[in-house]
Amino acid sequence: MKFIAFDVRDDEKPYFQAWAKQNKIEVTLDSGVLDERTLKKTTGYDAVLALQTRSYPEGMFEFFKKQGIKVLSIRNVGVDNLDLTAAKASQIPVTNVPAYSPNAIAEFSVTQLLQLLRQTTIFRQKIAAHDFRWAPFIGEELRSKTVGVIGTGRIGKAAIKIYQGFGARVIAYDLYPDPKLKSQGIYVPTLAALLQQADVITLHLPATAQDCYLLDEKAFSQMKQGVYIINTARGILIESKALLAALKNHRVAGAALDTYENENSIFNHDLRAQPFDDPILAELLVQPNVLITPHIAFYTKTAVENMVLIALNSAKAVCQQGKSDNLVTK
Ligand code: COI
Repeated sequence: MKFIAFDVRDDEKPYFQAWAKQNKIEVTLDSGVLDERTLKKTTGYDAVLALQTRSYPEGMFEFFKKQGIKVLSIRNVGVDNLDLTAAKASQIPVTNVPAYSPNAIAEFSVTQLLQLLRQTTIFRQKIAAHDFRWAPFIGEELRSKTVGVIGTGRIGKAAIKIYQGFGARVIAYDLYPDPKLKSQGIYVPTLAALLQQADVITLHLPATAQDCYLLDEKAFSQMKQGVYIINTARGILIESKALLAALKNHRVAGAALDTYENENSIFNHDLRAQPFDDPILAELLVQPNVLITPHIAFYTKTAVENMVLIALNSAKAVCQQGKSDNLVTK
């Protein structure tokens, strides 16, 4: 049995190598993305492992079928960049890693919110200029806030626990409420109700066609004055232009964006010597009350180890037994 893994970073290599040795399975590690150009590298392998937020190549599953490749195992959770209809049509099973570390993402969301509430970016800038005064940058406390969690899957649940630990009032909205959380009485009946009541709105839902621009101009106009927005889910959930306008008219007091709608050619790239052409992101980057991070909420040692090992085990299970607990295509 032979596997090939794409987009492999140095921090993932030890986990791949240890697993390959232990399982006596050859795993080729490739640092490039899986795209139209590199697709042919998969020939001769039983399983393909990948991790990317950009789209996968057109015709990939048909190609896999012709090559006798048995499975695509992605090392992340989101499947929004995959054509699952094509996967089904070609009968190529796809596995993901649904719970590599919900806490990694939940903790990061809370970290960013706390920084916004205490205006740490402004203090960092002031201190760099040797301005050590306090006023007028007085902070706010999380326990005085109503936090609105949109999406109560594994990550949303982990976030709710942390926010409750800080003493915040938590309300939540999900199309499919969790029965256990429902009994705590934290769900509001509609998205509009959450937008109207929350001092903080934190997104923890997957990107589907129906949730594209969930937070658009109309949604921002329904929110409380001075709301904080946290997005560690998917960029496409927020209409960035509308967010920028809401920051400028002070409807939004601060935003932490770990994902951005046009992030693929920017995040996780070294653009120090290369300007990027995205005027909205350029404006967001210079707002003192906006924290932009390059899709790193997931990026912890625990999460990375789990992403690699769970994806490899799923690929092996599909190749050997034709099934896996982590199949996203049934
Ligand atoms: C995911 O797991 O879907 C993420 O957003 C992490 C990223 C590395 C793709």
